[in-house]
Amino acid sequence: MSMNIESQSLGVLILAAGKGTRMHSEKPKVLQALLEEPLVYYPIKAARDAGLSDVAVLVGHRGDMVESYLKDEWENVDVVWQSEQLGTGHAVMVAMDWWSKFDNLLVLNGDVPLVRPETLSGLVDKHFNLRPQCSFLSTITDDPTGYGRVVRLADGGVRIVEDKDALDDEIKINEINAGVYLFSCEALSVVISQVGRKNALGEYYLPDTIHMICETEGDVNVIICEDDRELMGVNTPLDLAETARELNRRLMRGHMMKGLKCLDPSTTWIGPRVEFDEDVSLEPGVQIWGRSSFSNESSVGAYSTLRNVRLGERSVVHAHSVISDADIGADAAIGPFACLRGEVLMGNGAKIGRFVELKNSVVAEGAKVPHLSYIGDAEIGSGTNIGAGTITCNYDGRDKHRTKIGSDCFVGSDTMFVAPVSMGDNASTAAGSVITRDVPNGALAIARSRQSSIDGWHDRKDIREKYDETHGKES
Ligand code: UD1
Ligand code: CA
Repeated sequence: MSMNIESQSLGVLILAAGKGTRMHSEKPKVLQALLEEPLVYYPIKAARDAGLSDVAVLVGHRGDMVESYLKDEWENVDVVWQSEQLGTGHAVMVAMDWWSKFDNLLVLNGDVPLVRPETLSGLVDKHFNLRPQCSFLSTITDDPTGYGRVVRLADGGVRIVEDKDALDDEIKINEINAGVYLFSCEALSVVISQVGRKNALGEYYLPDTIHMICETEGDVNVIICEDDRELMGVNTPLDLAETARELNRRLMRGHMMKGLKCLDPSTTWIGPRVEFDEDVSLEPGVQIWGRSSFSNESSVGAYSTLRNVRLGERSVVHAHSVISDADIGADAAIGPFACLRGEVLMGNGAKIGRFVELKNSVVAEGAKVPHLSYIGDAEIGSGTNIGAGTITCNYDGRDKHRTKIGSDCFVGSDTMFVAPVSMGDNASTAAGSVITRDVPNGALAIARSRQSSIDGWHDRKDIREKYDETHGKES
């Protein structure tokens, strides 16, 4: 018997109120970083990608932190509070006001981050085809330790027993409960208030509803997921590392099948919001995080770390560079050993070379800062060349000030720009100048003491002997 899915409303409730004691951290567990996104990012994203739009996150332990993350990063995600955390059953009970308006409720543990959207939509489809009162995901795993075991009963029913409550023969069962359930709200509302807490932890267990539904309300359908790694729960820092490796493998595999070139995917790390055009190359040891995107034929050299970076076509980041919050045009080059941070804009063909730090600055088309410079709070016009060792002195001990350098300028090596200061187009500075006043268009600014030479220094015996005396040298 099949039914019309459109006519069935469905809410998604993500359980994220627990403390996560086993993380040994001040941070609530669902904000622990997995590939630099908080754990709770993943179930929300999977639900959204599965086309499920009514999503609520249940918060509790340090819920203000979770709530402010949700407000900042997600639109239309409801927040429901569970101020005292008495277990997953209690969690679903206190959220009843939120979910009672739907026909069906998908409950996701907030700490099961690798569930694929296809798995969720598969669960929804199967549920609507078979129409049981509850469907839930299980998987067969080599090491079921810590998980609820799925006990298949002789009468065809099913029961979940928690690891801590399991008897000797139950503990050996390797089919586990994944913490992903789809309930008919009608059935759920009957059983949820009857869940007790007579168990090893003294908590209200949501999995207890499974057997209760079998007994009274009707059918429960267990959907066995083929890939047990997809349903790993994250409870400890070790789990975090293992899920990170698994997710990274999955992401890298996906990108490489679409053209990403990567010599060693096992040492290359990317977050879930990183996007690649075709034919991008990454060397070993690269890390790319946040919202980053890479255009055709761009490449990143070994051991570089990029965060929130857009890299244009054919642009190259050489080895050992650290870049954050940068928008880089086409045919640009950066590094090796460059550091770019705090809102950087680089035009097409711009170049940032070896041992250069660039902060909160604009480097226009074709401009170059090839060696050993600090450029902070500055604008560099198109085609300008900045000599080695140039520094923008942007901080006067109290405030930060800006430096503005025009187009097609030639800045001599070791120039200090004492900001606020500006330089027109086609202007130059002499090497070693300390620029404290604005430089007009087309001018050469020289600001350093004039060189003097003492003739015959080498042969002036008197002076040299005196020098030797004071330095204790025997003649
Ligand atoms: C739970 C299941 C277990 C399953 C496993 C899958 C229960 C009792 N057990 O165990 O059968 O195999 O997940 O990973 O549900 N939470 C709240 N409020 C609470 C308690 C927990 O929101 O009062 C949230 C937590 O933040 C977490 C999720 O619910 O995201 C699961 O809680 P957790 O304590 O990790 O359950 P497990 O012991 O892993
Ligand atoms: Ca868990």
